[in-house]
Amino acid sequence: MTGPQGEREVEVTLCPDGPLLVRGATQVVDGDGERHRVERPVVAVCRCGSSLRPPWCDGMHKLLKQ
Ligand code: FES
Repeated sequence: MTGPQGEREVEVTLCPDGPLLVRGATQVVDGDGERHRVERPVVAVCRCGSSLRPPWCDGMHKLLKQ
């Protein structure tokens, strides 16, 4: 996606009680400043802190709801 002036647009969607869905990003920077290359059109970024493969969501947030 590009904006009106040709700039790349990144869209972030908050999933209730779940990850951030990030569309259009080329990298994600984690809390330690480490850069993670994005190679898919949409990635799910963990925001619950329970993922076993951070910064990506691995579905562990679903266990927190039980
Ligand atoms: S938001 Fe899915 S594992 Fe953290």
